[in-house]
Amino acid sequence: MKDRRRGRLTRDGIRIHEEADLDGMRRAGRLAAEILDRMIDHVVPGITTGRLDEIITSMIETAGAKSATIGYKGYRHASCISVNHVVCHGIPGDKVLKEGDILNIDVTVIVDGWYGDTSRMYVAGRPNRRAERLMQVTHDALMLGIETVRPGNTFGDIGAAIQRYVESQRMSVVRDFCGHGLGRVFHAPPNVLHYGRPGTGAVLEEGMFFTIEPMVNLGRPETKVLPDDWTAVTRDRSLSAQYEHSVGVTSDGAEIFTLSPAGRFHPTWA
Ligand code: MF3
Ligand code: CO
Ligand code: CO
Repeated sequence: MKDRRRGRLTRDGIRIHEEADLDGMRRAGRLAAEILDRMIDHVVPGITTGRLDEIITSMIETAGAKSATIGYKGYRHASCISVNHVVCHGIPGDKVLKEGDILNIDVTVIVDGWYGDTSRMYVAGRPNRRAERLMQVTHDALMLGIETVRPGNTFGDIGAAIQRYVESQRMSVVRDFCGHGLGRVFHAPPNVLHYGRPGTGAVLEEGMFFTIEPMVNLGRPETKVLPDDWTAVTRDRSLSAQYEHSVGVTSDGAEIFTLSPAGRFHPTWA
């Protein structure tokens, strides 16, 4: 109880964490990022997404950590694996990867009660030029969003930076899913939109922890959820990509908790 009440909430219900909370976020973020590093060699044509998820499950177990997604709202897997026109929340299963498929693997772990949430793009084999450009723009959009994180800026500044860049590249930002606060919980206020107007939304303060996780489509931004109630796809079947980091606001910028220890957040295929 004492731990849960540490820090305070802003008027928007956003938790302001303390210095002592950074250690937990760093450990959770590092484990999630390490797992994504170690998946690089497993993503090859012929493997199923279900097998990739089994490998992730055993890595989390071996690390003595817990999956945040197993049992979350009835979800039963340690990862979401979203292939080609799947925008997010792809369910691992018997889908076999083929040469040139692009996929997002999204892992959230719990380490001593702290959540680390990150995703990045992979390729089975080599990407074609359009797919490679989509992934580059999506990665760069995330990093531009993170560059706007500092006390005094707003959540609208983050979304605006992402949207402006993506649309300048004639791609579109998904509106139907957003980033989120996290810490000792998986999904907390605020909703972190990947579009918006500068100067709008809550003001960033040191000690806020949240994800930024833009989804970018080559075609139109609209999505629909399949009858399995999870898998979100582009309505026009265009290719989609996503990158996600968990970050904290520092006194003068952002700390990225989910940096790749191997330096292979992007690209994973080079
Ligand atoms: N990791 C996802 C996120 O970035 C959430 C997945 S919830 C699940 O917020 F149940 F689909 F796994
Ligand atoms: Co997230
Ligand atoms: Co995630």
